[in-house]
Amino acid sequence: MSNQTVTITINGEAYEESVPQRMLLVDFIRDKAALTGTHVGCTYEGVCGACTVHLDGEAVKSCLMLAVQADGHELTTVEGLAQGGELTQLQKSFNEKHALQCGYCTPGILMNMTEFLKDNPKPTEEEVRRGLVGNLCRCTGYQHIVEAVLDAADKQGG
Ligand code: FES
Ligand code: FES
Repeated sequence: MSNQTVTITINGEAYEESVPQRMLLVDFIRDKAALTGTHVGCTYEGVCGACTVHLDGEAVKSCLMLAVQADGHELTTVEGLAQGGELTQLQKSFNEKHALQCGYCTPGILMNMTEFLKDNPKPTEEEVRRGLVGNLCRCTGYQHIVEAVLDAADKQGG
């Protein structure tokens, strides 16, 4: 299959690369941009959510997209959440509420929940649990994750 040159902006930096047309976006992020905070947890089946990033501000699973589909678009990965070394409130709440163990699922959950809180600034526990349905965590039992999201909503004035 032939290559195609794409330009994808990730966390404000433009990456221009020649890529195979069937390269997945998550592989572009990890292998071409060397941003390895975006994880692959389910061998590209779209079920675990570990690869979640923002595409033009919307949370997407980057294992379900081709890199060529993101040509000309803007991505944010977990590395782009903190600004000037300052963690977001959601990241702080994850830390304070012990919402991670191995951390493998955490980047995807942070990306998904960052968007979730924008759309639902004052969620109920039930809404948070429903919002997490596309993110699998094998370690935590979710309780602390849910508490962290509610804590962030509270401190953000939701
Ligand atoms: S690696 Fe994309 S959803 Fe699991
Ligand atoms: S903290 Fe280990 S998979 Fe979620």
